[in-house]
Amino acid sequence: MDFTDLGFQYHKTHQNYLSRYRDGAWDQGILRDEDTITISAFSPAIHYGQQAFEGLKAYRTKDGHIQLFRPQDNAARLRESCKRLLMPEISDEKFLEACRQVVLANLDYVPPYGSNATLYLRPYVIGVGLNLGVRPAKEYLFGVICSPVGSYFKGGLSPVDFMVTEFDRAAPNGTGKAKVGGNYAASLYPNHMAHELGFADCIYLDPATHRNIDEVGSANFFGITKDGCFVTPKSSSILPSITKKSLMVLASQIGLCVKEEDVPIDGLDRFAEAGACGTAAVITPIRSITYQESKFVFPTGNEVGPTTRKLYDMLTKIQFGDLEGPEGWTTKIV
Ligand code: PLP
Ligand code: COI
Repeated sequence: MDFTDLGFQYHKTHQNYLSRYRDGAWDQGILRDEDTITISAFSPAIHYGQQAFEGLKAYRTKDGHIQLFRPQDNAARLRESCKRLLMPEISDEKFLEACRQVVLANLDYVPPYGSNATLYLRPYVIGVGLNLGVRPAKEYLFGVICSPVGSYFKGGLSPVDFMVTEFDRAAPNGTGKAKVGGNYAASLYPNHMAHELGFADCIYLDPATHRNIDEVGSANFFGITKDGCFVTPKSSSILPSITKKSLMVLASQIGLCVKEEDVPIDGLDRFAEAGACGTAAVITPIRSITYQESKFVFPTGNEVGPTTRKLYDMLTKIQFGDLEGPEGWTTKIV
């Protein structure tokens, strides 16, 4: 396998983890070879979107170890998503043990240090079983599947163009801050339209007023102001990104002021640089944002801004074990 040219798609791996919840308790779970599951066609996951998922990566370090980045935060977020959709929660221990087993069962799919690629882990919880009415399921599956991945956006650390869509991915008091499939279902059409028009993805505005940037369909938004602040939207309808939360810490370490606040779409000229951040997106610099009839090009244009690059270097060095991060940010698997 050429780990240097992967993109973000599924490559079959050896094994995945699957656990079943029945009669009020999770079983121990097993590692299995098949990457398919058989469930009732009446499952609420299929009809009513009763499901949630996570995304995290296993990083190969220079000395050959493998580590996860802030997996406890993914476990905690999955619990929040499960609560919102009335699904049984997964403990930190169970979540971490499932991730650990999947990494260990797929060691030769963890890309080598220096390839910039990683093993992407996709934990999921789905409501299964016979259920016709709009009610939560009685049985659930918790699985962790994986695939080696490279960049989510073409070119990795190279600037992309986004457009603002008039569609919403979430409602003001809806499920935007939970990582549930419904948000992504709502983003498929706008995302397709954006691609047709030559954009890498779309930016959603806050669904209540349509005045402020909420997030990108697959990542959070941040901007670096001309006077040295890291600014990122404060909104109840965006996914609380673990990457964003980490960048807020790193930004303050390098002397930027850090603000979580409304980011008006008609006030982009305060920014010297902007980017999208997330597990899959890592940090993807934004070249331009097209809103209605006008295209705003950030001053960095085709270049990666100096602050964006600094944050990217710090974040990825911590993730790949070249730089010591704050206490507890990395979890060694092997
Ligand atoms: N926003 C959305 C809609 C996402 O799908 C993701 C990816 O998980 C993010 C933001 C970034 O979150 P994180 O940094 O925790 O991966
Ligand atoms: C992630 O970054 O882990 C995500 O889940 C984003 C997804 C759109 C691939």
